[in-house]
Amino acid sequence: MTVLALETSCDETAVAILRGDGSGHELLASEVASQVAAHEKYGGIVPEIASRNHLIHAPRLLDRAASAAKTRLSEIDVFAATTGPGLASSLMIGASIAKGLAIGFGKRYLGINHLEGHLLSPFFVDATPSSRKSEPCDGGVASTMRAQGDIKPNLSLIVSGGHTMLVAVRGLANYQLIGHTVDDAAGEAFDKVAKMLGLGYPGGPEIEKYARGGDPKRFDFPRSMLGSENFSFSGLKTAVRYLLPKIGVIPSEAKRSRGTRWNDGGSDASGSLDFARDDVLRDLCASFQQAIIDVLVTKTIAAAQKHRVDLVTISGGVSCNQELRRRMRDASSRKGIEFKSAEPWLCTDNAAMIAFAALLRSRAGFESQVTEEIDPNLKVA
Ligand code: KG4
Ligand code: ZN
Repeated sequence: MTVLALETSCDETAVAILRGDGSGHELLASEVASQVAAHEKYGGIVPEIASRNHLIHAPRLLDRAASAAKTRLSEIDVFAATTGPGLASSLMIGASIAKGLAIGFGKRYLGINHLEGHLLSPFFVDATPSSRKSEPCDGGVASTMRAQGDIKPNLSLIVSGGHTMLVAVRGLANYQLIGHTVDDAAGEAFDKVAKMLGLGYPGGPEIEKYARGGDPKRFDFPRSMLGSENFSFSGLKTAVRYLLPKIGVIPSEAKRSRGTRWNDGGSDASGSLDFARDDVLRDLCASFQQAIIDVLVTKTIAAAQKHRVDLVTISGGVSCNQELRRRMRDASSRKGIEFKSAEPWLCTDNAAMIAFAALLRSRAGFESQVTEEIDPNLKVA
């Protein structure tokens, strides 16, 4: 069975082709076109620009994916697309294209939940040469030739720009929501704090870069709602905002001042001005990152123990973070819990994870009607 999937839930256009049989699967193509540059000057994603760009990118990516996979679209068995959650006008583009192809070629159509794509991604293993897939993260390369997609029960932490949630996964399509963020998602907190510091978008990789070599104990940031299975990151973001003037940085001025004087002679300033600025910035990023990771690790391990699950998985853009992966792996192993994360290139939005979910669902007999609507607020459980 060969599945073609489109992912257009937000500002990334992606197409993947995955072939599977009873014993495994092989990724034939995975293409991602980022729109970061198109939205950067507006300081956030503009829905109309995102959907117009999906319309421009998708036909080109379909062509590229088909030729990389050495297949014709007429040979595809299932056309899948992300149907939620996400931006309505973006979701409609991918779903409409998949439906049109399914109708045109007389094949099956399957709508996939973006969050299910993320939470199944740690189970996706393939041996595709890295040249055949885009690597928006830091690209781990695959190991086995053909791999099974058995979904072992696990406690899944999905951490992305739009979502932070804990899900008890009992098997394919059998999910229970354990906790979710009551305000900002973890990735959103990374992005907003990076913006305050005058760093680029997306903020997560920028903060991770500066955090390396910084002192995570220098600034004492809050770890909110530790007694609950829900998350809250807006207090942490506010704590950073209040701290900046105290160390001589006015948030909106951060970008400008980073080029000159980052810390204007406060008690933390030492050595040359440039050194003082980078030193404070590194410590601030390390302390902020540590606060987020402490919360994510503590709650995930507590939930795994409470729900008696012996496997923890993490997925979504923030799970690219090497320090988060290391800390979650260590904490799991101390409790005798197995740990699995999605390969780095699969953590940020892509269509391979949607194709993988579609392949598993197709094999299990799931099918969608072309009359089914997209749902911007689609729930995973
Ligand atoms: O999964 P994703 O591509 O899109 C959503 O579904 O939201 O996640 C994007 C988010 C952004 O907020 C970005 O800052 C964050 O993932 N991210 C990271 C890292 N790489 C991406 N956060 C922390 N550390 C990283 N290395
Ligand atoms: Zn995502």
